[in-house]
Amino acid sequence: MPKVKISNNDETIDINPMVSFLNNLLINNIPIETICGGRAICGKCVVKILRGKEYLSSLKEIESMRLKSLNLDVPEDKAVYRLACQTHTRRDITIEIINFKG
Ligand code: FES
Repeated sequence: MPKVKISNNDETIDINPMVSFLNNLLINNIPIETICGGRAICGKCVVKILRGKEYLSSLKEIESMRLKSLNLDVPEDKAVYRLACQTHTRRDITIEIINFKG
């Protein structure tokens, strides 16, 4: 089972690769914001992928459009932004939750 390390609080959780990051984080009581409930509308679930971006599910048009609308700074460290509600992983990764509520 893949693991996700959350840099905000140094917690590592096992995740179900068949379920989105957002649902895996919520199931594990990780405080991430969502308004739209995972429909790629609100953009609140954005995460920065610090390690393992090559293991992620591919970027779909709806996610790409929402990410562009958020006008995020381009990371200097080759990290990428993804919407937790639209992303799955098959291997271990490290993320930073941008709207961490902890
Ligand atoms: S939860 Fe709203 S865009 Fe992901």
